[in-house]
Amino acid sequence: MKKLSLTATCLVLVFLLVSPIFSEELKSIQLPKPQTDGGKPLMQALKDRSSSREFSPAKLPIQVLSNLLWAAWGINRPESGKRTAPSAVSYQEIDIYVATPDGLYLYDAKAHMLKPILSEDIWALTGRQPFVKDAPVNLVYVADYSKMTRSSNEDKDLFSAANTGCIAENVYLFSASEGLVTVLRASIDRPALAKAMKLRPDQKIILSQTVGYPKK
Ligand SMILES: Cc1cc2nc3c(=O)[nH]c(=O)nc-3n(C[C@H](O)[C@H](O)[C@H](O)COP(=O)(O)O)c2cc1C
Repeated sequence: MKKLSLTATCLVLVFLLVSPIFSEELKSIQLPKPQTDGGKPLMQALKDRSSSREFSPAKLPIQVLSNLLWAAWGINRPESGKRTAPSAVSYQEIDIYVATPDGLYLYDAKAHMLKPILSEDIWALTGRQPFVKDAPVNLVYVADYSKMTRSSNEDKDLFSAANTGCIAENVYLFSASEGLVTVLRASIDRPALAKAMKLRPDQKIILSQTVGYPKK
């Protein structure tokens, strides 16, 4: 009996030592400081804004991803913590999840970093259209209703949809300015995606948005 428990202890120790070699742990990514100058003049970006559904698989450089997320929903007034898009009652209820071929991250605007959520590839689940799998980045806009306690259910739906629309337009304009292509998408299997993302019942998937370089 004593021999058996010693063997078991040894096996557990060996497993603990080798398991990090096999597990592909997703790590936090500190984004570089966003570059908040330059870009096309606003009127030019508005002229060029459009939806596109043809993506190259080329990855976005980390600086471009940093600039994109800051433009989308970053903090532009550090003294108040307010953001590049408006939100009703300043609830700031929308979370941007960033789905990449490596895994799923959550954008933390305050720390300007990507927090690891899932190392599984849930990428294809972020939309029903085939081009979703070709693109390097799919943003998933999730409303956290637990931050909206002072509003009715109807207003929670309305406000979070409006907030998402403002963020999505920032992504459209940034993309138009930077030579990226993007499309906002409602065509999502929400129950399947929410399950894969392990969301709480009071977290609602609003829309998703694909971003990448144009297909050559
Ligand atoms: C709320 C919303 C949901 C949308 N859902 C989808 C979608 O699921 N799939 C898609 O290909 N485009 C979707 N679009 C993009 C529209 O089809 C597109 O904006 C429209 O065709 C006009 O084209 P434009 O953006 O180039 O002006 C959506 C746009 C909005 C605002």
